[in-house]
Amino acid sequence: MKAIILNEAGCVENLKYVDIPKPKITSDEVLVKTISLSINPVDYKVRANTGSLNWLFKNERPAVLGWDLSGTIVEIGENVTDFKVGDAVFGMVNFPGKGNVYAEFVAAPATHVALKPSNISHQEAATATLAALIAWQTLVNKGNVKKGDKVLIHGASGGVGHYATQIAKYLGAYVIGTSSAKNREFVLQNGTDKHVDYTTENILEIVSDADFVLDTIAGDNISKSIDSTKTGGIIVTIPSGNISNADINKAKSKGIDLSFLLVESSGVDMLKIAQLMERGILKSHVSKTFSFDEMKDAHLYLEKGRTIGKIVINI
Ligand SMILES: NC(=O)c1ccc[n+]([C@@H]2O[C@H](COP(=O)([O-])OP(=O)(O)OC[C@H]3O[C@@H](n4cnc5c(N)ncnc54)[C@H](OP(=O)(O)O)[C@@H]3O)[C@@H](O)[C@H]2O)c1
Repeated sequence: MKAIILNEAGCVENLKYVDIPKPKITSDEVLVKTISLSINPVDYKVRANTGSLNWLFKNERPAVLGWDLSGTIVEIGENVTDFKVGDAVFGMVNFPGKGNVYAEFVAAPATHVALKPSNISHQEAATATLAALIAWQTLVNKGNVKKGDKVLIHGASGGVGHYATQIAKYLGAYVIGTSSAKNREFVLQNGTDKHVDYTTENILEIVSDADFVLDTIAGDNISKSIDSTKTGGIIVTIPSGNISNADINKAKSKGIDLSFLLVESSGVDMLKIAQLMERGILKSHVSKTFSFDEMKDAHLYLEKGRTIGKIVINI
């Protein structure tokens, strides 16, 4: 089968196209024929950085990156009862760990995928995986966001932010979202109640009593997020687990729950996402499509940090 491998971290030229044997599934896995896949900032971070590559792949080389997939089941393990051959499924496979999704066939634990609703395409499904899951896991599982809460979402035009906005609105929250001015219309059309242009406006003059903040930016945005949050509120930062002692102490002194959250594969959470997509409540905005042969271009595009919604790669 066609696959893209990585022998060592570095530039996009290190992504090599090869033919490798189809994976063999275990009794708890399904073999999925990939139709579409998606990538996230973690893909280019792991590709570029040896520490990040070792974190997820240990000593295994070559590594096959990729975690987000949508496709059709062509084989099922003997313990799998929830799916059958021919089912269309989508999910985030083995994160944190070895995803092996940059390939024509992927061995996926049955507990990591959900049935793809028939009213959404494989492209829309493949993108609503890692980014939608972290949005769900921060707002619902960690934040317990509820009707009437004030929610601040940084990076509301990006992959995570655009799903997080829709989920927060579904939960009944009032949503403030940040992006640059060029993405203002997109952010508002996506359901945000109030847009803030982070390049010209001071967020601290606009919100100081958020119940929940999703920080997709980190750096000095964490300190600003603490100032934007009310006493007893919750901040989840997702770019990195390195939160400074100064920020930890500042949050503590305001009684704010500040933490880093790492997304985890979950078929249970995927089912919630599938149900919202089926009902038209959660939608993927796919702003750019690449072919499998253009994976290097897809990495370079996403790495610029200017993506609106998600990008997708079709095999
Ligand atoms: N912990 C986890 O499990 C987890 C999971 C998913 C993602 N993440 C991390 O979360 C971050 C965001 O991921 P993503 O997939 O949403 O990225 P993305 O899709 O690449 O985000 C791009 C968007 O960010 C906006 N943006 C850039 N700088 C901004 C700023 N200073 N303030 C507000 N918006 C800004 C851009 O809008 P403009 O062009 O208008 O600036 C663009 O639309 C990444 O660091 C990623 O690694 C972590």
